[in-house]
Amino acid sequence: MALEPHLIKLDLKGDERGSLIALEALRNVPFAIKRTYFIFGTLPGVRRGKHAHRRLRQLAVCVHGGCKIALDDGRSQATVELKSPDMALYVPPMLWHEMFDFSEGCVLLVLAEDHYDERDYIRNYEQFLLSVRK
Ligand code: TYD
Repeated sequence: MALEPHLIKLDLKGDERGSLIALEALRNVPFAIKRTYFIFGTLPGVRRGKHAHRRLRQLAVCVHGGCKIALDDGRSQATVELKSPDMALYVPPMLWHEMFDFSEGCVLLVLAEDHYDERDYIRNYEQFLLSVRK
């Protein structure tokens, strides 16, 4: 079966003054948020991510510009393009992800369910495949 990326459409509050989008834990974000980080200043041609998390759940939104995210659950793959601040990608545990094709000025905001913990990362693809197929 093909991998279906879990995209979440965010409610955009727009009026003549501009736009606003709210992210709320356990409402439009499917977990309680302990950490937020953002990726910006990426150089052309770079690929980031290249890992999966054992337990961590995350939500990614391109709040400015766009990028592509390649997803792999160990059985099938998909690529999504985030290019609008009202579209979020839910990244569950054990989903290999690689971000690439960042547009100039892209700011990728990520909400995470837990604090940073390197022990939660699987950074080796072969090891990821072994873990997922166990
Ligand atoms: P890295 O995992 O390489 O980023 P990406 O997933 O975008 O490829 O992280 C870059 C550095 O930042 C690395 O030294 C780990 C550190 N880091 C933190 O200290 N806190 C965090 O919340 C994150 C995501 C990374």
